[in-house]
Amino acid sequence: MNLLDKYNRIIDYMRISITDRCNLGCLYCKVGAELQTHSEKSSNTSNVILSYDEIYKIVLAGAGLGVRKVRITGGEPLVRKDVYKLIEMIKGIETIKDISITTNGLLLEENVEKLACAGLDRVNISIDSLKSPIYKEITRGGDIDAVFRGLYRAAQFGLTPIKINMVPIKGLNDCEIEDFVRLAMDTSYQIRFIELMPYGRNAQWNNEHFISAAEIAARVEKVAALTPIRFKVPGVARYYRLNKGNGIVGFISPVSNHFCMTCNRLRLTSKGMIRPCLFSDAEIDIGTVVRRGAGMDEIQEILLKAVNEKSVGHRGNLETGTNSMSEIGG
Ligand code: 5AD
Repeated sequence: MNLLDKYNRIIDYMRISITDRCNLGCLYCKVGAELQTHSEKSSNTSNVILSYDEIYKIVLAGAGLGVRKVRITGGEPLVRKDVYKLIEMIKGIETIKDISITTNGLLLEENVEKLACAGLDRVNISIDSLKSPIYKEITRGGDIDAVFRGLYRAAQFGLTPIKINMVPIKGLNDCEIEDFVRLAMDTSYQIRFIELMPYGRNAQWNNEHFISAAEIAARVEKVAALTPIRFKVPGVARYYRLNKGNGIVGFISPVSNHFCMTCNRLRLTSKGMIRPCLFSDAEIDIGTVVRRGAGMDEIQEILLKAVNEKSVGHRGNLETGTNSMSEIGG
């Protein structure tokens, strides 16, 4: 069964943010007060995050409607305890065909084995620099060596294809675009270049450091020629094969070239809100309904309402947004 929205898009993908906490403080994601931890923040709000049981119920309801792909995000999902238990629960839903995680990789090394045994299919790892000092600067203190130890271990456990997300930032890491292309040529990791999105309180800084996908592609082509690859599955990235090695690179251009017509997703925030679109503040409360013990029909009704509210497109720029990316899951 396919779940269709008003514009005939098949909605088969749910991105689930399981925490807004993060063990990094990336310059383009966090500003000032956002660097405090989730537990500090939550001490003076009544917002409680969804339990794994509650998330499971929502995924089960979604699967009954046609959701087949799930991604676990954050914040940094691996800072939440026992993520493998949630993976195991979701993996038990027969019609969910693909379950993946987006992580900064810092805690991967110690978690990979349990995640793989629980049925995780693959990982996307966010790596914005291959150089230790620049990585540290962008992430406000991250250790790139720990990330690579996690990445190698994920490869050993078959959590492939491993996709690396790289956000080029003018004046900070854009000198490394070519290095990432060489990494794609030399390994089986797919490199996906993501345009820096102006978002929430970081809009101005991000705008100043923005590099368009077209500019990034021009830099990539200095290293290797690109041949487009047509994947049957819908998605946000445009992929290309490099003419050297077996490498694949992708471009995600939420700002310069919206991919709304191939949008196939719903987002669930850690606090139990469904977001029909990353670029809209509109949210529908599903957590409250699940908590009061609603049955599948009622949960599905809310999901259908959210699908119905998906708009045809967005402007690619939400300067008024009050939420940071870490609350919604990128
Ligand atoms: N612009 C572009 N990418 C972003 N991400 C988080 N915030 C932004 C932003 N403002 C990316 C992360 C991660 C993915 C989930 O989203 O780097 O790779």
